[in-house]
Order: sequence, then C-alpha cells, then structure tokens
Amino acid sequence: MKKNIDQGDLAQSVFLLQPSRPILCTTINTDGSLHVAPFSWINPVSHKPPRVAMALLNKPKKQNSLVNIERTGEFVVNVPSLELAEKLVECSYLIKEGENKFRRAGFNVLPSVKVSPPGIQECKAHLECKVINSLDAGDHILLVADILQASYEEGAYSSNLLINLERFTPAIHILNYVLDKSQVHVFLKPCGSHTIEVPYPDNQ
Ligand SMILES: Cc1cc2nc3c(=O)[nH]c(=O)nc-3n(C[C@H](O)[C@H](O)[C@H](O)COP(=O)(O)O)c2cc1C
Repeated sequence: MKKNIDQGDLAQSVFLLQPSRPILCTTINTDGSLHVAPFSWINPVSHKPPRVAMALLNKPKKQNSLVNIERTGEFVVNVPSLELAEKLVECSYLIKEGENKFRRAGFNVLPSVKVSPPGIQECKAHLECKVINSLDAGDHILLVADILQASYEEGAYSSNLLINLERFTPAIHILNYVLDKSQVHVFLKPCGSHTIEVPYPDNQ
C-alpha cells in the first residue's frame, strides 16, 4: 500500500531520499579568510572526467559559500566523520559580524594542490573542485565542477577506496528539527556492511 504525498506538501518529498551524506565545503572570503559550511545536496555526476554537482540555496538568501564560489570558481569538498557532527552543524549556524566559522570550529588547514581554498585536516577525504557550469535549478543553484585533485586519510579507506568502517564512521544524516536555542540532528551509525553476489542472467 503506497501513500501519496499531498500536492501542497511536495516540497517535503525530497526527504524520501534520506539518508544524506553532508560534506564540509571550504571556500575563500573576499578578504582572503577561510570559510566553511555543510552541504548535503552533492553527488558525483561524471566519472571521466571526474565531476560533482552541488546545489546551494540562492533564493530568498544566497549562501555565503555560493557568493565565494561564484567569485572564485573554486571550492573543496571535505568528507567528515561522525565525530565531527557537532562542528558540522555549528558550521551551518550564522556568524556575527567579524566572526569566522572556520576559526570558530577550530579546524586545521590542509593546503590544497590545485585550488586556492584549503581543505580541513580533520576530515577524511578531500576533493579540490573548479566550477565548469551552473544552472538556476529553482531556489538552489546547481554547480557542476571538475575534481582537479583528491586525497584521503590512509586507513580510512582501503587502497581500492573501500571505506574502512573500523577506522572511519561516516556522517550519515537523516533528520533535523529546530528548537528555540538549538537544533537537533539525527545521524545514522552504520552497524556493518551487507555483501551480496548476484549471478548474471543466462543470456549475458
Ligand atoms: C546537515 C546539513 C546539510 C545541509 N545541506 C545543505 C545543502 O545541500 N544546500 C544548502 O544550500 N544548504 C544546506 N544546508 C544549510 C547550510 O549549511 C546553511 O544555510 C549555512 O548557513 C550556509 O552557510 P554559508 O551561508 O556560510 O555558506 C545544510 C545544513 C546542514 C546542517
């Protein structure tokens, strides 16, 4: 038995795509200082050449990260572990005049090779990205970017890039709600992997 979502509530239908895997996006501010914010709407969209697409809110308010990316064309995708969940959420909170989210989070800088924004040392993987295209997708702008350089923490992944769940618990997000003085965010804890072998049909 399927339940239809009312037409008036279709905006909620994106939550049927849970869970999401938020990343920390680093960019450079106009004054050269570092900027960071979490974004979930990011996915690979091309293998050769390697590309990702990321959707950032544009209306009614343009994300500061989007302002930076539109100006510089560059950003770094940093993959956090569950241990960084509190800092990840804090990086989505507004800052006061003169405050800096990268400094507030106490992150250490990981110099990049191909782009100006650095990565975050505490994260487990890093994609240095350069925008090649953007699309007005609705209230978000969809950025398509080349991955120019990528690195990861040894031990967090195997040499064939299989995530090592004993050394790296990814931040997998399923829910958040806003209270007066805080936000509550629910993350999934993977309790292992499920491996299957599927035979080809006879005609292949
Ligand atoms: C787990 C999580 C995922 C988020 N995903 C997105 C996203 O995909 N796109 C987006 O525009 N905002 C997303 N946000 C909200 C931004 O992080 C938030 O608006 C932040 O203030 C933007 O920072 P900036 O204006 O400094 O760029 C997310 C927030 C959280 C906590």
